[in-house]
Amino acid sequence: MTSVNDLRSSFVDYFARNGHEAVSSGPLVPRNDPTLMFTNAGMVPFKNVFTGVEKRPYSTATSAQKCVRAGGKHNDLDNVGFTARHHTFFEMLGNFSFGDYFKDHAIELAWNLLTKDWQLPKEKLMVTVYQDDDEALELWKKIAGLSEDRIVRLGAKSNFWQMGDTGPCGPCSEIFYDHGEHVWGGPPGSPEEDGDRWIEVWNLVFMQFEQHGDGSRTALPRPSIDTGMGLERVAAVMQGVHDNYDIDLFKALINAAANSTGVDVDGGGNRSLRVIADHLRSMSFLIAEGVLPSNEGRGYVLRRIMRRAMRHATLLGASEPLIYKLVPALVREMGQAYPELSRGEAMIAETVRLEEGRFLKTLGRGLQILEDETRGLGEGAVLDGATAFKLYDTYGFPLDLTEDALRNRNIKVDQAGFDAAMAAQKAEARKSWSGSGEAATDMVWYGLADKVGPTEFLGYETETAEGEIKALLKDGAEVAALAAGEEGYVVLNQTPFYAESGGQVGDTGQLMGEGVEATVSDTQKFHGVFAHKVMVTAGTLKPGQAVELLVDHGRRSAIRANHSATHLLHEALRLVLGDHVAQKGSQVSADRLRFDFVHTKPMSPEEISEVEDLANAIILQNAPVETRLMGVEEAKESGARALFGEKYGDEVRVVSMGQPTGNGLGWSVELCGGTHVRRTGDIGLVSVVAESAVGAGVRRVEALTGNAARRRGNENVAIVGAAAGLLRSGTQDVLERIAALQEQLKRTERSLSDAKQKLAMGGGSAKAEGPETINGVAFVGRVVEGLQPKDLRGLVDQTKKQVGSGVVAIVGVTEDGKAGLAVGVTEDLVGKKSAVELVKAGAAALGGQGGGGRPDMAQAGGPDGGKAEDALTAIRALI
Ligand code: SER
Repeated sequence: MTSVNDLRSSFVDYFARNGHEAVSSGPLVPRNDPTLMFTNAGMVPFKNVFTGVEKRPYSTATSAQKCVRAGGKHNDLDNVGFTARHHTFFEMLGNFSFGDYFKDHAIELAWNLLTKDWQLPKEKLMVTVYQDDDEALELWKKIAGLSEDRIVRLGAKSNFWQMGDTGPCGPCSEIFYDHGEHVWGGPPGSPEEDGDRWIEVWNLVFMQFEQHGDGSRTALPRPSIDTGMGLERVAAVMQGVHDNYDIDLFKALINAAANSTGVDVDGGGNRSLRVIADHLRSMSFLIAEGVLPSNEGRGYVLRRIMRRAMRHATLLGASEPLIYKLVPALVREMGQAYPELSRGEAMIAETVRLEEGRFLKTLGRGLQILEDETRGLGEGAVLDGATAFKLYDTYGFPLDLTEDALRNRNIKVDQAGFDAAMAAQKAEARKSWSGSGEAATDMVWYGLADKVGPTEFLGYETETAEGEIKALLKDGAEVAALAAGEEGYVVLNQTPFYAESGGQVGDTGQLMGEGVEATVSDTQKFHGVFAHKVMVTAGTLKPGQAVELLVDHGRRSAIRANHSATHLLHEALRLVLGDHVAQKGSQVSADRLRFDFVHTKPMSPEEISEVEDLANAIILQNAPVETRLMGVEEAKESGARALFGEKYGDEVRVVSMGQPTGNGLGWSVELCGGTHVRRTGDIGLVSVVAESAVGAGVRRVEALTGNAARRRGNENVAIVGAAAGLLRSGTQDVLERIAALQEQLKRTERSLSDAKQKLAMGGGSAKAEGPETINGVAFVGRVVEGLQPKDLRGLVDQTKKQVGSGVVAIVGVTEDGKAGLAVGVTEDLVGKKSAVELVKAGAAALGGQGGGGRPDMAQAGGPDGGKAEDALTAIRALI
């Protein structure tokens, strides 16, 4: 038997041997199309290559592509479990030619793989062609040797393929396999074609057109090829079973589900086992890509898939979470081909377990209500919309889950009634909101949230994606266009741009479409609507346009590193300073991070370096950074740090990083909606550059990471190097040299002061040398430049001793032109002359007021050093 895994590689190898580039599967959440919910065909990642917008270094390719057909244009969710071939998740094998080969070689390659390599008997195969495609019909005759009765012409409904409402498309030709007479059904185009006997295994699309939003169709630059073969279908053919759920991969998953519920694989629960096996795949692959269950957009499609599977688990008797236990079985089957499954195993299982726990709380009660409300209803009856809405709103039953539950009994749900109940609830919310008296601009955003719905954020997983413009705003009002040179806001259905919140700044970058370009200088969020602040640089933006969104990669990478480092510092601070360290705020931008926390005293240098050491040790672990979704309460119970007083939604993202020390989720675990590095090593390093107070009992640390931290370190090294150069020392000796210089400077200052005093007493002009005699009293009067007021007194005392009996007055003029004055009277003259009176007279001459002291020694000052001699003259006059 050829296993699914062998078939996948056999297909890719065959086309690689035939000159095709083997390309790994693209993501399930398409980055290159704003209108697609999930990748629904193998050609989706190549969409822009077909249209010529994107160039690749190869012109032919092959892939096995993950696909989800739920919630979008191709939606198979409701059929899973009821048919042999519907899946929400499947793999599409394909080969592609981008203007390289066309119909003939495509047919030849397909025919040879099926009939030669895989040895399917020719008589079990039939093909269809688009009704007008004579060329394809002739090629099948020529290349495959098929007779005309095995080639069926069909109309556009089955033989014209379109990816979605827009995008590449073209006529196609399908290959069918006959599972044999024992299965009911007829060939394509016959009245029994819906039976399971003749099954389409391969679709060859002759891509020739691009479908546009306005309904028009243009030719692709060159005719191309897109083929798609469902891996599960062809595995059924190759394994001789006619039901996809009987292939090896599904058998393994169904057995795992049967074992954990204890039900018989072939018993009455078979349908539920199939649902669980199928949904396990789609939920795990979506979660592995970062989609998490929520109440909006893709997250809600995921939640619907998960809850549908969970109801089927309860049908099999489960009353505890169970599906999460099946994740390892899936990883065993598919983890090798899709390493993201193995890498994400723990996170997937945990996310599933939590959603199961959440839903099981209301599921039983909801089922009881459903039972009560439908007890009297017979086949063909309709459940009222109000009850379906109550199940949705209060018990978490998505509408399709209610429909699924009633399908067996052939009871329908009043969808119009459900929609009306939903609209009434929204109107109620709007009414109570508009009474809250918020600003008028806020009203505009609230209206937009209501009209276009919340923006789906893709930026956890990607920095580039396409989005569709939903609204444009200028000066606080909606406008129909934004032309080159204009500034305003753009609202899209989805975006990779992060809107400022939780301390993390909004993203900046570029927005580009056909003939139009704008720079995004900020992103904010109002009521869930992302507002991209733009300046249009070329062309005109209009609602309905699909545009490519490019986040500034360098800036975002730096922001990510800073945000993750903030979490590490938070935990390190708590470990070093104590449990009282609670976050009071933070700011994460591209160039630095800031974290405010409760702590009453400044941190010591030792504490700071201990914090740095701890955080950098986790960076060196290079441990993966993981995100899961939890209810707020369970998140807090798990020990995750939360911002006190912050309002959180019902569900929160919990970010953990670093190897856990106990049996926790990680070394650091925080509630956080921000964007983070993939592994702690991506932070590079973290370095605290400042620590300060921001209020009573609140401290702030500021830090740099990665290149910014390295550059700052280098700058400091350069400064020390330059200082060493100036000091003519080695860098090691800089501190010692500075201390020595400071000591030397002090000594020099001291001896300079001594020298000035000596100069004042001994040296100077002839007049200054000896005392003069006034009215029989010896008087020494001096002016000394550069003498500080504090040195005046000592000098006057010494001079008094030298004079023996007399009056001494010294004016010191400082460098800034001010004057200090001290007057001394020797003991024998006290009572005759007063130092206080003399100093007052001198001070007046200097423009000063007052002066004071004792009769033998008084001091004063004045602003006018230029009048120093006048001060002495005034003193002389009083003697
Ligand atoms: N795009 C086509 C399909 O999905 C062929 O790959 O069927």
